[in-house]
Amino acid sequence: MTLTDDALITAATNARKKAYAPYSDFKVGAALLDESGRIHTGQNVENAAYPNGICAEAAAIAMMVQQGGTKIIKIAVSGGFGSQLCTPCGGCRQRIREFATDDTPVLICDANSLQVDLTLGALLPYSFGPENLG
Ligand code: THU
Repeated sequence: MTLTDDALITAATNARKKAYAPYSDFKVGAALLDESGRIHTGQNVENAAYPNGICAEAAAIAMMVQQGGTKIIKIAVSGGFGSQLCTPCGGCRQRIREFATDDTPVLICDANSLQVDLTLGALLPYSFGPENLG
């Protein structure tokens, strides 16, 4: 683990505490490092009209784009119940893919610490991204 990993994991676990998840009670936080060395965070925000809720990763990506970031260098996601971790949902794997590559580390954390160190390529093999559009 590097200092950056530590900072990302702490940022994701802190973001998780801000989650608005009254319907699922499943709180998720995400923190990503962009190409300028900035960390952007987000948390899930649910809605009484359930499909309108947004995932933590989507919220963090929106923050990055708002600040002018264009690349996800590394991302940490904090969530889960006990031993059930919060690996990014399918939609969020694709959202991360838009700004990342197969090698991009995805750090999966529980409410406190790193549990699994993956890559986007492992989570979303043979993915479709901006390059595929030619
Ligand atoms: N959730 C995320 O924030 N990220 C994921 O990758 C998986 C799921 C949220 C959505 C919803 O608010 C709650 O977790 C339960 O699905």
